[in-house]
Amino acid sequence: MELNELTLIHPQPTPGDTKWFRHDRFGMFIHWGLYALPARHEWVKSHERIPDDVYDKYFRHFNPDLYEPAIWAKAAANAGMKYFVITTKHHEGFCLWDSALTDYKSTNTPYGKDILHPMVDAFRGEGLRTGFYHSLLDWHHPEYPLDECHPMRDNAEYAAEDKNRDVNKYVDYLYGQTDELLTQFGKIDILWYDFSVGKSNRYPGKGKDIWRSEELIARIRSRQPDIIIDDRLQIDQDVKTPEQYMPGEWVRVGGQPVVWEGCHTFSGSWGYHRDEESWKTPEQLIIMLIDSVSKGGNLLLNVGPTGRGEFDERALNRLEAIGKWMKRHSRSIYGCTQAPLEFDCPRDCIYTYNPDTQCLYLHILAWRFDNILLTGEAARHVDYVQLLSDASEIRFDRSGSDENPEIRLKLPLKKPTVAEIPVLEIFLK
Ligand code: GLC
Repeated sequence: MELNELTLIHPQPTPGDTKWFRHDRFGMFIHWGLYALPARHEWVKSHERIPDDVYDKYFRHFNPDLYEPAIWAKAAANAGMKYFVITTKHHEGFCLWDSALTDYKSTNTPYGKDILHPMVDAFRGEGLRTGFYHSLLDWHHPEYPLDECHPMRDNAEYAAEDKNRDVNKYVDYLYGQTDELLTQFGKIDILWYDFSVGKSNRYPGKGKDIWRSEELIARIRSRQPDIIIDDRLQIDQDVKTPEQYMPGEWVRVGGQPVVWEGCHTFSGSWGYHRDEESWKTPEQLIIMLIDSVSKGGNLLLNVGPTGRGEFDERALNRLEAIGKWMKRHSRSIYGCTQAPLEFDCPRDCIYTYNPDTQCLYLHILAWRFDNILLTGEAARHVDYVQLLSDASEIRFDRSGSDENPEIRLKLPLKKPTVAEIPVLEIFLK
């Protein structure tokens, strides 16, 4: 087979243009709100059924005096991330910008300032694109009726008042805030709504009929025609968002491959969690990035900044390690996708492929001296091979037959030290 006859998977077209998104592959998620203060999960208000008057202590003490978004933006850029998605408002309802539609915002805390504008400026300054996460749920808004996720779901008195709550008034607020976010911050590249709630025995759910998702989507596109919208309004748009699991193959909807982005935490919480210890290792995180790209997807990796306004040591260490790897290996990530289906991947390795440069990338998860065997269609096309970290030649022998060519790659005895995961760059012909 000729190179251009090999089979590449292409995702289904979407209403928005995802070209840059599929090229860039790697973004930073940031979950930041009042929940940084309890520091025990961004759902703490719901998990512990905390009423507004008690949760209010976090509002009264929110004062991230060390917040310097330029430092965050640099950390993201150094890690090789190309876009960021910030929680403008999470389920707790607290807003990071000076919304005209609520008092529940950063400007009214002891901190006293808008958080979002300086953040957007700082990340743009580092060349990253801007995404807004916005919660459809709101556990603070007085017109937001109960559902099975709401902190007051077990409170009979609060439930009795539900009949006086008008969800449409809340939805007006949602539309109004969406307008603010899409008109006051320049070009917004991604809108990441979260999420639609199922119904329970006690309470109705909230989904596309309540949000009037079609109307909302049309409105968003009229404000920001180039925007990418996620799938959590219960109407699939530009990107599917598998959360906290690694898809086993290219994500499909109705049998067709789609644009997708996996989102993951460093540890088990999105918001800053002081005592949570299940942190993934740098090596694991790098493999997750490679694995996502090898299945045609993106990785959105989350940081939960502290209540002082910093990325904590554990997050910074991991970002630095990823950055060290990305500095020399990003060629196997940016612009890359799943390898041609005809290519068999050797054991303990992951392929990615850049269709524009026709380079195949072999990520070696277990380094064993001294050879790796490529067979079949992959072997047929090999022209030149180098170690990506230092462009040192990897020599190989050709063997096998015309129908079944083989290539034996000769690896050096020592695993290159700069690389958690070494990569061979294979130029195809
Ligand atoms: C879930 C959670 C939420 C988190 C989100 C990120 O929907 O409700 O806390 O923000 O996933 O994907």
